[in-house]
Formats: sequence, C-alpha cells, structure tokens
Amino acid sequence: MKPIPFEAGWRSPSNIAFVKYWGKKGHQLPANPSLSMTLKECVSETFVTFAPADSLKVELFLEGNKEEKFASKIQKYIETLTDFPELKNVHYTIKTKNTFPHGTGIASSASGLSAFALCLTDYLYAMNPGKNFFQDASSFSRLASGSACRSVYGGFTTWGDESDLYASPFEVHAEMAHLKDSVLVISGEEKKVSSTAGHGRMTSHPFAEARYAQAKINFKLMASALKSGDIETMGKILESEALTLHSMFMTSPEAYTLLRPNTIAAIDMIWNFRQETKLPLYFTLDAGPNLHLIYPESAQNKIKTFISHELTPFTERIIEDERGEGPQKC
Ligand code: PMV
Repeated sequence: MKPIPFEAGWRSPSNIAFVKYWGKKGHQLPANPSLSMTLKECVSETFVTFAPADSLKVELFLEGNKEEKFASKIQKYIETLTDFPELKNVHYTIKTKNTFPHGTGIASSASGLSAFALCLTDYLYAMNPGKNFFQDASSFSRLASGSACRSVYGGFTTWGDESDLYASPFEVHAEMAHLKDSVLVISGEEKKVSSTAGHGRMTSHPFAEARYAQAKINFKLMASALKSGDIETMGKILESEALTLHSMFMTSPEAYTLLRPNTIAAIDMIWNFRQETKLPLYFTLDAGPNLHLIYPESAQNKIKTFISHELTPFTERIIEDERGEGPQKC
C-alpha cells in the first residue's frame, strides 16, 4: 500500500510495574509476566505528521527543541517494522512533550513510545482498518520498549500472561481502583546503566532462572490480591518485587546499583511508619533511585502528612500521581 499524508496525536501515560518485567527472550518478548498500574499525571503528548517521501526520514522535536538522538532511535525502530512497507517511504515529523519535568528520573519511554505507537497505529488503520486498535498499538509499543506496551490501557494491565505479544487490561477489586502514587524524586540524574543494557545482563545472570520462577509466582499472588482487595499481600509483593529488581542489578556479573543513600533512608522511614501506624503505605522502585509510594485513597490524609513532613527532606521533589484512565486521542 502507498503511504498517504496523515496527522495523528495522542496523550499517553507512563505506568508503574507492580510485578516487574526484567529479562527478555526472543524479539522483545518478556522472560516473565508483569503487571502494572497506568498513571494519570505522568503523560506524554505526541503529534506526528506523516508525509509521503522517497525515503524514510524522522525529525523529532521535544518541547520544541530538535532532538537528533531520539529521532535516530525512532528511525531505527521504524526500520525494524519490515512487515509494514507503508511505513518506509515517509517523512515523519514528531512533536512531543511530557507533562512531568525533565531530569526527574521518571522514565518517559513508556509514555513517549506508547504515544508514538498509538499515532503509528492510527496511520496504519487509516489505510487498512484492523479489528483491535489498542491490541495492535500495544504490540507496536512493545517493539519500541517492552514496558510501553502496558500503557495503552487505563487501570491495571498485564503483559506476558494472556500474551507475550501485547498487554491486556486487568480488572481489580473496588478497593484497588483508586490507588495513589506519590513519586519521591530522590535524584533526577540520568541513570548509569540503561534498561536495554540491564536486560542484557540478565542473560548471564546466575539467578536469572530463579528470578523468572519467582516472578511467575509473584504475578499470581499479586493478581489475586488485586482482585480480592487484599492490600497487605499486594504491598508485600510490591516491595519484594522492587527489592528483587534492584538485587538483580547488584548481583549481576557486571554489578551496579541505581539506589542512592536517600532511597534507603526513605525506605527505612516507610517501614517504621507502617509498623507504628499500621497504615497501608508501601513502596516500589523502577530502574532508578526514585520511590513510588502506593496507598489507597481512603488512607491518604495521614499518609500525605507523613510524606510531606518526614520524607520531603530526602527528595528533590514529589510528584503526586494516581491510577489513570489510559491514553486519549488529541
Ligand atoms: O521497557 P524497558 O525495556 O525500558 O524495561 C523497563 C523495565 C522496568 O521498568 C524496570 C520494569 C517494568 O516492568 O516496567
């Protein structure tokens, strides 16, 4: 099919994994199932102009500034989509921005790449409509960045359970439907080891198989806790997943850590607070030093007071987020 002139725009959120995807098999397939909550405030807004051309060319503007590095990453990604020749002879102009500030260490790849994949799916559907837009958008997101495939749905999402190729929406108990996520930005510095390099280190990791087996068990426990509204089990697995992910970094043959002293200090405070108050405040970590504090809306008053009084000194800033409804066309 011949390329057509087209414009698309999507706002797509980031997500935080409750059960982590860490380690790949085959072509961008997960070594274990993962489960995440889609966020509301941490969003990328992306507009793409598709212009038929003699060859493939990508220009990308982030917050109005031309970005050669991201443009070349997107170009390489499009070149891998060889099943879609209609993507080839196109000049792409991408204008993208994030609602969350730069240098906060919040991964923009899940939001940014899912927003771009949604625009790509719009374009392909304009020429040849398919049957399952979001499933296809999830597949395209996955090929760009694994965790991005879970951002195309609101609420909770699984990947590697129903399918390895795309994510699926996951229904939870009413108690879990309004979880808050206060993101403690401990450091906004760029991470020393990228996720791509980190996934790669799992291939020679002495504990890789044990980790995949544990993740499969944790996935089942987490799914059942979210369905039954068992906040304590949810929190226990949530923290175990975060600490295991970081233990994998620290025990890989080429060892590294992304934790900072303030990450540990804040974790200690959270554990003490929970023991003293019995309130359901739990943490998780992405591949970075920043803590996502997860708690139900019903307990937010006392927890927010604790966060602002006791934890603020350990942070560069705090981003208040919560479970979101998923991407929107714009
Ligand atoms: O999507 P990637 O390839 O950047 O991998 C990131 C994986 C984690 O964010 C660390 C965990 C997850 O499941 O989101």
